[in-house]
Amino acid sequence: MTPAVAESAAELHRLRAELPGPVALVPTMGALHEGHRTLVRAARERAGSVVVSVFVNPTQFGPGEDYDRYPRTWDADLAALAEEGADLVFHPGVEDVYPPGSLGVTVDPGPLGSVLEGAVRPGHFAGVLTVVSKLFGLVRPDVAVFGEKDYQQLALIRRMVADLCLGVDVIGSPTVREDDGLAMSSRNKYLGGADRDRATALSRALRIAEIRARETSLAEGIEAARAELSEAGIEVEYLEARDPDDLSPVDRLGERRVLLAVAAQVGPARLIDNVLIAPRRT
Ligand code: PAJ
Repeated sequence: MTPAVAESAAELHRLRAELPGPVALVPTMGALHEGHRTLVRAARERAGSVVVSVFVNPTQFGPGEDYDRYPRTWDADLAALAEEGADLVFHPGVEDVYPPGSLGVTVDPGPLGSVLEGAVRPGHFAGVLTVVSKLFGLVRPDVAVFGEKDYQQLALIRRMVADLCLGVDVIGSPTVREDDGLAMSSRNKYLGGADRDRATALSRALRIAEIRARETSLAEGIEAARAELSEAGIEVEYLEARDPDDLSPVDRLGERRVLLAVAAQVGPARLIDNVLIAPRRT
């Protein structure tokens, strides 16, 4: 069945009031793929009603980034959400989320927002956290589901909810990959044949690093990943090992999991991926 669609904040308000709880929210920017669909299914397991937002958020794109060319596939998105049994789709205009006359109060991501993606994309996480807190305020969900594909985003949203006492249960859902390992992403649409092949080096490098880190050391694992990426002719923006909770730098595999995160430009697409390396068995 086609879900109800709210194209404005006022419509959302009316339709939201009729939903049986608990209500789960899956925020997206559309161009939906199997990764998004998995989040919708995870939301369904935990809630009486599932709301999906489809909104390409201008404030999380920096100058010169791909806001204008970001894929917009509304008809296909709605068909996918009908198949997944979403109850309500919120598809607002920019002025519904950023009403004219606002004086621009925003969410400051704090120190977690200035490493990894935050170091390369200044202002990105302020844009993400601001829109997610607005979506929480508009939809008033009990639960919200985010992908581990954007690990730092998930970590920051958990922190925002805790630090600002937002009272939303945040669920993380594992990264969904193509058969050849490439993490699904709306930006994969930018990749032509040769770049699409080269892009598989990201997940391959992470897998190699994981195996090597467990066999020898984290440093050797990272070295092996760098070699794999350079072999594929990919210039790395960052490849870093971090604590999965506070994102502080980590230099060895100990008794806790280690996040290994990578970002690289592959032809026209800027891609990110990550793996959580399990602790050493003692
Ligand atoms: P978007 O890139 O559309 O992603 C929406 C959600 O889908 C995010 O939680 C993201 O982590 C998750 N996701 C994307 N690819 C995935 C994959 N391969 N496997 C599992 N989950 C995946 O992330 C955003 O939009 C925006 O920043 C948003 C949170 C909507 C705020 O504007």
